Amino acid sequence: MTDLRERAPAKVNLFLAVGPPRPDGYHPILTVFEAVPYYDDVEITMRPKPPGEPWGFGAAAFRPDGSPLETLPRNLDNLAARAAKVFVEARLGADRPCSVAPAEMLVTLVKRIPVSAGLGGGSSDAAAVLRALATHYGDPPDLPGLAGLAAGLGSDVPFFVLGGRAVGRSRGEDLTPLPRDPSLPLVIGLPSFPLRTPDVYREFDRQGPDRWARREGDLSRLLDALTAGDLKRLAPCLRNDLEAAALALRPEIGEALAALRQAGCLAAQLSGSGPAVFGLAPSGQDVGRLAEAAQKALPARLTDRMTFVGLCSGA
Ligand code: C5P
Repeated sequence: MTDLRERAPAKVNLFLAVGPPRPDGYHPILTVFEAVPYYDDVEITMRPKPPGEPWGFGAAAFRPDGSPLETLPRNLDNLAARAAKVFVEARLGADRPCSVAPAEMLVTLVKRIPVSAGLGGGSSDAAAVLRALATHYGDPPDLPGLAGLAAGLGSDVPFFVLGGRAVGRSRGEDLTPLPRDPSLPLVIGLPSFPLRTPDVYREFDRQGPDRWARREGDLSRLLDALTAGDLKRLAPCLRNDLEAAALALRPEIGEALAALRQAGCLAAQLSGSGPAVFGLAPSGQDVGRLAEAAQKALPARLTDRMTFVGLCSGA
């Protein structure tokens, strides 16, 4: 029996411009992904495969306190189990001898990243499975085939294979890596309630995209400020076109954003399709204090709906 272990970081989107839907139903986006050191733990247990036996793939999810997280699927509906399957099919073939290939891959997840939150947890878990298996079987992490497998699993999965910071185009899978420096001081609002990505995109379509034409100019202003490490200049460049749609579906997101601003963040916005939010802190020394201040600034009825944590980006 072999165990592989990998950490799966969360992400926020510093920039997310969204265009009108394509014929395949996906929306073209222009985004800046930023990995953050807030992790799920991913473990792959592999049992040997006698020749001719079918493959088995499964998943099990737990909370950090060890209690089972029953809401996540245990079969191939779980993206992390699906990642193991597509890797095996592509890389190992269905019928390699038992010395090479296992009969069963069980992916065990310890979930800290909230599910359906806009922080990419499920995508990151799947990418961690691909990275762990690629390393185990001696594939280079920048293997082009791995990016293709990742894109087939979901729009955000290729970014998590890469990590760090990157511009994403098309539906997010067409990536240009960016320098990881400077690290950004952030306060992240972790929601205890989910929001389904397709619902947010549907509401976005109902409201109508209006800023898509201004995406490239806005992005280069953000990248200039980022390169200069100028947080005051970066703050007004943050952008998320899904924010109005997410706010329409979950008005309490507005109160979480207000709490971040009241705590002293230079800017605050939705991450991905939400309902997670994040604020840009003035400096790395401030993040813990600002997270506490944002928690206190939340209305009492929302205190168990959003938990603020301070951290500096990079993972
Ligand atoms: O690619 P992924 O499976 O993560 O996407 C989930 C859903 O989010 C899609 O089915 C689609 O409704 C929406 N989506 C989109 N445009 C994107 C990414 C996701 O419309 N660029």
